[in-house]
Amino acid sequence: MKFGRKLRRFFRRTRRIWPSPDRKQAAAEREVIHRGLDYIEYLDRLHLALNPASYVEIGVYVGESLAKARCAAVAIDPDIKLRGETLAARSETHIFQMTSDHFFEGQDLRRIFPAGVDLAFIDGMHLFEYALRDFINLERFARPQGLIAIHDCCPLNAEMALREWNAEARVVREWANWWTGDIWKLLPILRQYRPELEIFVLDTPPSGLVLVNGLDPASTVLSDRYAEIVTAFSMDLDEGRLLRFRQEFPTLDSRGAFSPEALCRRLRAPESPARPPTA
Ligand SMILES: C[S@@+](CC[C@H](N)C(=O)[O-])C[C@H]1O[C@@H](n2cnc3c(N)ncnc32)[C@H](O)[C@@H]1O
Repeated sequence: MKFGRKLRRFFRRTRRIWPSPDRKQAAAEREVIHRGLDYIEYLDRLHLALNPASYVEIGVYVGESLAKARCAAVAIDPDIKLRGETLAARSETHIFQMTSDHFFEGQDLRRIFPAGVDLAFIDGMHLFEYALRDFINLERFARPQGLIAIHDCCPLNAEMALREWNAEARVVREWANWWTGDIWKLLPILRQYRPELEIFVLDTPPSGLVLVNGLDPASTVLSDRYAEIVTAFSMDLDEGRLLRFRQEFPTLDSRGAFSPEALCRRLRAPESPARPPTA
């Protein structure tokens, strides 16, 4: 083998073993692991700090997050598999074994919570148009200082945010069973169409937790422009888009400045002007 070819092969191999700082940086940016409070612990402390009188959860599964609600709760999921002490913390739990769309078509939340909803959690179907409908439907019943939490808006890599969950096809095997779907799109959608909302993007593992404050039950912007939004946000998340997304929506410190207790102190009072979050 000629010396030049040997030299080229040597450098190719070395690069594979010791990636350049740029390549390391790019790899680190592609796979961000959130290091804050676990989202269940965050929700637990949020319930204690906020002390809501009414709670709605879309997407319940075994009831791990529902178990943290101490107030009257509505639980919606077509395939509930409650286990453990899910119901122990409260005297009133209204369970609806159906999709959230089906629930909002046929039920009136106001009959259960005449004063409105203080806290809601969206963790049902992980396709953005479903989560967007959940947001629209829940906001109609929100109390002025209410909060809507949304799970899974911060994927660790682009492939877990594909619309189809195909564990076998996934390259990063370690996270092949995690699927956030394209719920991340709710953040640019809310920022573009509802800039007055106050949005907190928290660094809770595994895949972030978003809290939305400053809700307006009378707003019809999202429902009026629903079809336009769904068409405009039909793209997939690729690595470049993921980097830009992370720059636009940096995560906030859920252990420190944005702990549940600190966040509750920052919540916007009804009628006061928007206060953008600072890290
Ligand atoms: C990730 S799990 C919820 C986990 C739970 N919130 C927790 O943190 O412990 C998602 C749940 O959403 C439910 N789901 C799927 N499609 C739904 C829909 N259209 N409406 C409501 N729930 C849905 C599934 O049946 C599943 O139990």
